[in-house]
Formats: sequence, structure tokens, C-alpha cells
Amino acid sequence: MCGIIAYTGHRPAVPVLIEGLKSLEYRGYDSAGLAFVHMNRLHLFRASGKLEALEAKLDSGHVLHATSGIGHTRWATHGLPNEVNAHPHLDINAHIALVHNGIIENFQELKTMLVDCGCIFRSETDTEVLVCLVSQGVKKTGSVREAISWALNLVEGSYAFALISRDHPGTIWAARHASPLILGHGTGENFVASDIPAFLPFTREVIFLEDNELVEMNSEKWAVFEVGTLKPVSKSIQTVSWDVQAARKGGYKHFMLKEIFEQPQVIRNCLAGRIERRTGNVLLPEVANLSVPKRLHIIACGTSYHAGLWTKYLMESFARIPVDVEIASEFRYKPLVPEKDKVYLTISQSGETADTLAALSLIKEQGFPVLGLCNVAGSSIARESDHVILTQAGPEISVASTKAMCSQLVLTFLLSLYWARHKNLLDPQIVDRAVNSFDALPDILDQKLPAMSETAASLCRIYSSARSFFFLGRGLYYPLALEGALKLKEISYIHAEGYAAGELKHGPIALIDPDFPTLAIALADPLFRKIKSNLKEIQARKGRIIALTQEGSGLTVDNEWVIPQTWGPLNTFFVLPALQLFAYETAVYLGKDVDQPRNLAKSVTVE
Ligand code: G6P
Repeated sequence: MCGIIAYTGHRPAVPVLIEGLKSLEYRGYDSAGLAFVHMNRLHLFRASGKLEALEAKLDSGHVLHATSGIGHTRWATHGLPNEVNAHPHLDINAHIALVHNGIIENFQELKTMLVDCGCIFRSETDTEVLVCLVSQGVKKTGSVREAISWALNLVEGSYAFALISRDHPGTIWAARHASPLILGHGTGENFVASDIPAFLPFTREVIFLEDNELVEMNSEKWAVFEVGTLKPVSKSIQTVSWDVQAARKGGYKHFMLKEIFEQPQVIRNCLAGRIERRTGNVLLPEVANLSVPKRLHIIACGTSYHAGLWTKYLMESFARIPVDVEIASEFRYKPLVPEKDKVYLTISQSGETADTLAALSLIKEQGFPVLGLCNVAGSSIARESDHVILTQAGPEISVASTKAMCSQLVLTFLLSLYWARHKNLLDPQIVDRAVNSFDALPDILDQKLPAMSETAASLCRIYSSARSFFFLGRGLYYPLALEGALKLKEISYIHAEGYAAGELKHGPIALIDPDFPTLAIALADPLFRKIKSNLKEIQARKGRIIALTQEGSGLTVDNEWVIPQTWGPLNTFFVLPALQLFAYETAVYLGKDVDQPRNLAKSVTVE
């Protein structure tokens, strides 16, 4: 989400910034901008839309004089993706320019304080708060470094930012907390960026910045300080061996793998600012004006539809709201039965899927409220829904959707808790467990994903010759079985069917033989004994089984794939990447085009 780059050196800075932004465009592309100091003045160029729109605005004359500057490509979180909200943002006196990636969670509170001090805001972004705060700090302390440190002590949330000052041409300051930022060390030039590919054509020497570190650099030297104390921090330079092309995928072989591995950060981003620690309340201001529905009707396609099915289990068990889930292409050609106090929820990564969009229009014509859950700010579904929750997965490039589903599940989980709380159905102990387990989840996942990937790679060697596969689950894991099957067929072209394990005996079990394997989700939950019996039925017909299970399951199957264990429904967030990795490794093993599978498109804008 958002890409930032800063350069200081001997080259004309603007072309370096533009090249850097091109390789960061995967992080967001709804607007872009850059700023530099020339002739004692800050120059600012911004444009909504893709990078070409910004390039068209840069006249070739004086822009080539600057040898330092900052650039940004945006994935909108706060405020529409228009030019006013595009970065860089300036302080009111145009002395400081700043580009930011992340979310300042207490921006509203800080904004009120800054308005009282006479600051004027021009955009709807949380970022402008940061630049105004630093400007106030400069007035107080007389030093940019001290001002940043002072400002960051007041800020809550996540950030990676880079800043330039009219009064110090050639110097760049940057800092991070829970958002990526990497320093690139060159000869007579230095860089900071959200990702290495942004400066890889110029240097392979990198310094990985940690949370609460602040860097101050010019063309000749850089230094890192601890935010707060401003004590110098000693850092080591590492040399990366990536070639420029491969690094466009952040060092991953495919965007899909990269996006699977981004899921821990997606979970962090989706949770940022959503839980009030003191009370355990879920914060979803996007639905504050929507009364708690008597019935919820979810409409979506593909992977987003599976997210809807999963939501049904959660919503019904926590919030006791009955839920219907429908495929958009079916819904749109059926009579719409009016029902009082019903809310429609459309789920879509792209926000542009034609069937979902058509369903949305039909619902609106009938005067029902529509809540949209989508990943692309400014997309049709985001614009046309009455209420919108953005899923914060960042740009998803691989056609097979992975991290978007993860983000949808986090948000609908929070929505279930939110409505349960409004109906006074929430047991505080459940909230505690949910919050604590969610907090711990991303780090565990970060740690476990590499091993899960290896297990998937070894299993696919055993099973990739299968012509068909069953994916089985029960309860909450039935929708995940559907998703596991979808992923496998989408990218490996192996026929796969997802089934509710208890339904197998009503027909599909006839297909079981030694060449028709099953991947079963058999976790330590109240339905474990039921699924264990279903697996026995498969084994009695000589079917081979991979069981996705947890430590101490006692299952005797062909391959036991033990995944970590957390609290109740959050085990979903281990199951989902395991299924994605299994499909991914199988497709790679079979030599398929993982990121652009045949016949598919990322966003289906036709019926
Ligand atoms: C296409 C994509 C799927 C996606 C579906 C719905 O078929 O290939 O990965 O799940 O559209 O897309 P949406 O953007 O509405 O979630």
C-alpha cells in the first residue's frame, strides 16, 4: 500500500524518482507525486491516476536541475484518489514536503489539536497531520531531526515516510514504524524506498531499517537514530544479489507467492485502528449509520463468494444474524424478495466485477442499503455502495486471489463482532481471546510460512499426477475447502471439487479410488470426530488422504500436514495459506503460468 522513494546524490533526481516509482507501482497506482527543492523553493508535482499522468505534468526544463527529492505512488486509504489527496503533502508555509505509507490511527485527534494551533488542512488524508506536526516541531526545536522525533512520539499507527525541507536542500529524513523502509547506499548518492527494486538499478547495498528508526542522509553520508532519544544506531550494510527483473516481484518467483507471504502484514493492516484496546470495542465507523440488520444477504463471485460463505458461519454464531450468500451472476436474474431490515453486502477485491456490480444496482433500485467490502478505493463498487469498508490488502497482482480473501475474512470477522456487540451478545472473554489471538497471529504466520511452503512443495511431488482432487471440510472450513479446490483448478488445471465432508457419502464418494486423492481440513475443533469418521469412509475405499491438521491429531492418513494452532475461528488464517501454497507449489511443479493462468482475468468486467 503506497510506494515511497527518496533520492539524494549527483544525478538529476526526477528521472531516478520516476524510475523508482515505476517499480513500486504494484503497491498502489491511484495517484502519484514528487517534490524537490530548487532555487530556494519547494516544487511539487502531483496527478491522479497512473504514473504516466504525473510524467505528463513534468516539463523537461527546470525539473532536471534538482539532485534530490521524494516521490510517492498511492493506494488510497484516507480520502479519495484525487490530486488534492495525492502525496507529497506540504506544511502550510511550504517549507516541508512529506510522502507517507501507512495509517496514522489517531489523526483525527491530532488534527483537532493542530487546527487549534492555527494549522490549515487542504486534503482529507491522515498524512497531512504528520507534515503539520513536524512543522510545529521545527518551530519548537529549531531542528528537523528533533522535530520528527517529537512528532513521532505523538503519532499512533503505522508509517514509513520521507521528508525534505526547503531550508536544507540535499538532505532527506525518513523513518518507519510497522511499514517497510529500506536505505540504499550508493557512491555519492543515497536512497530510501518502500522496496529494494526502487533503487536496484543504482545500488545493491542496502540497510534494512527497523521500527522507530530515523535516518538522516545527504549524497555523501547517512546516519540512523533512535526515535525519541535520538541516540545513533549502528547499522550494517548488506549486499543483495537480486537482478532487477526478479526483484520487481520483491525477490519472489511469482506475484502469487509474494502475495501469499504478504498475508501477515495484510492482517496487521486490516486490524490497524480497528480495536479500541481499553474497551475491546471494534471500530467500524463505516457502518455507524447502518442499523444492525435482521438479515444479511451477501453477494459476490469467485474467491470473494467463498469469503461470503465463511462469513455466514461467523455472523450467525457471534451476531445471530441469519445470512444468505449468493453468487452474483445467479442473484441478478432472480426476483428480489423485499424484506424489512435486510442489508446487502457485496464483497469484491477489484470492486469492478460486472455481475456483482449489476447485483448492486438492482438492490439500490429497490431502495435497500448496500454495504460494499472491497479492496480498491475509488472502484465502482466502492463508489456506488451506500457504505464501504476497504479491505487494506494492497494491490493484488496475481490473477489467483490470495491476500484479498485473507483481508475480507479479517474484516467480516470484525463486522460479526461489531454487530454482536451492538446486540449485546458478546461475551467479554471471547473479545479478549479474539483480540489477543489476532495480535499474535501475524508474527506466528510470518515465522511459519516458509516451512508451510516447503511442506506444500514436498506434498505436491507426491500428488501432482492426480487428475482429480477432493477438498473436504466441515463448518467454517467447508468454504475453505471450496477455496482450496478453486485455487488448485485455477492455476494447476487439475480438476478439484470442494465438498462438505458429511455430504461425500451422498454421491461423490463413488468417485474415490487410489487415483482420486483427498485433502481434508481436520482441525482440533468440535467437528473433528465427525470428519475423522468421514476420512475412515474414504480410506475404506482405498482413497489417499492428506490431512491438514494440528499437533496430536492421532490421524492415520497417507500424509499428515500439521499446521500451527490458535484460538477457534482464527485457525482459518493458517488453513488458508496452506491451501494456497499447495495449489501454488503444484502449479509450479507442473510448469504452469502461475500469475497469468490460461482463460482467466483478474477483474471480470464483462458478464
Ligand atoms: C475473477 C478472479 C477471481 C476473483 C473473482 C471475483 O474471476 O479471477 O480471483 O475471485 O473474479 O473478483 P472480485 O474482484 O469481485 O473479488
